Amino acid sequence: MIKELEKIKEQAIKKIEEAQSTDLLEQIRVEFLGKKGKITEVLKKLGTLPAEERPKMGSIANEIKEIITNSIQEQYQIILEKEIQKKIEEEKIDITLPGRTCGIGHMHVINQVMSEITDIFIQMGFQIASGPEVETEYYNFESLNTPDDHPARDVHDTFYVKPGVVLRTHTSPVQMRVMEKTKPPVAVIVPGRVYRVDNDASHSPMFNQMEGLLVDEDITFADLKGTLMYFVHKFFGEETAVRFRPHYFPFTEPSAEMDISCTVCKGKGCRVCKNSGWLEILGCGMVHPRVFQYAGYDNEKYQGYAFGFGIDRMAMLKFSIPSINLLFDNNLKFLEQF
Ligand code: PHE
Repeated sequence: MIKELEKIKEQAIKKIEEAQSTDLLEQIRVEFLGKKGKITEVLKKLGTLPAEERPKMGSIANEIKEIITNSIQEQYQIILEKEIQKKIEEEKIDITLPGRTCGIGHMHVINQVMSEITDIFIQMGFQIASGPEVETEYYNFESLNTPDDHPARDVHDTFYVKPGVVLRTHTSPVQMRVMEKTKPPVAVIVPGRVYRVDNDASHSPMFNQMEGLLVDEDITFADLKGTLMYFVHKFFGEETAVRFRPHYFPFTEPSAEMDISCTVCKGKGCRVCKNSGWLEILGCGMVHPRVFQYAGYDNEKYQGYAFGFGIDRMAMLKFSIPSINLLFDNNLKFLEQF
């Protein structure tokens, strides 16, 4: 019987050492130590032995049982470690692979131009003001001396929200909102979105404007010219020529339009300036006395100037962008150039 037990032991140890998976180890455990296992079978035969040999045999059998159990446990640890090692190998990150980059965004060209222009005026002492994009007809037209029958009030130019309420067609209504709340001296710029029923290569139904308003005592057209020339030279360059043409706006008197020498041909004449050498860039003038009356300002004591221009147009001229739609299409290939 001892021999039989020794044989079983050797068999078991060999199988255990060869086993490469925990499943297999479990099978081996059942095969040798289970209820119907080989050791158990031997132990069952103990009863057939003479009484004095039974305790000795019993203890040998238990010893062998323990040896098998221990070696199963040892092998189990070995396999487990190997499996963990294998998993680590498989899941290892190759840090030499090029990573996925996450593109960093930047300011939209309109915002870049807007903040560049804003900075120029802030350096001159202007403050930033803002107002609603959904505006009453009173602020958008009436208080700016734009009578009911003025062509600018025509439904073809203006988006009406409901009677008496429009999407503001310019940033000028903010002039009135500021003057109602502030006593002179006033020096504000108003960047903001405006809306007009218009859509082609140089017009978008929504675009950005910058309004300027300065009110104080002894303000003349020369102050307006000086301020705008300073701005143009800062923004477009010192070599840029400027000219003023008489114009009409209901809310300024006298009124003018300002041109700059063509940014493309430098005044020689090209397709962009329609061979004139000049580009129209803004409207301006001295604040109309009627507007001061609406604001509650003493129009004998105070004078002021105002101007307004398209920020999108400034961006287009500065960077030779052929269509305003490019600014709003959100095509990254285009936007990433700025
Ligand atoms: N509001 C005018 C426009 O939109 C521009 C302007 C502003 C003209 C201020 C004169 C004074 O065309």
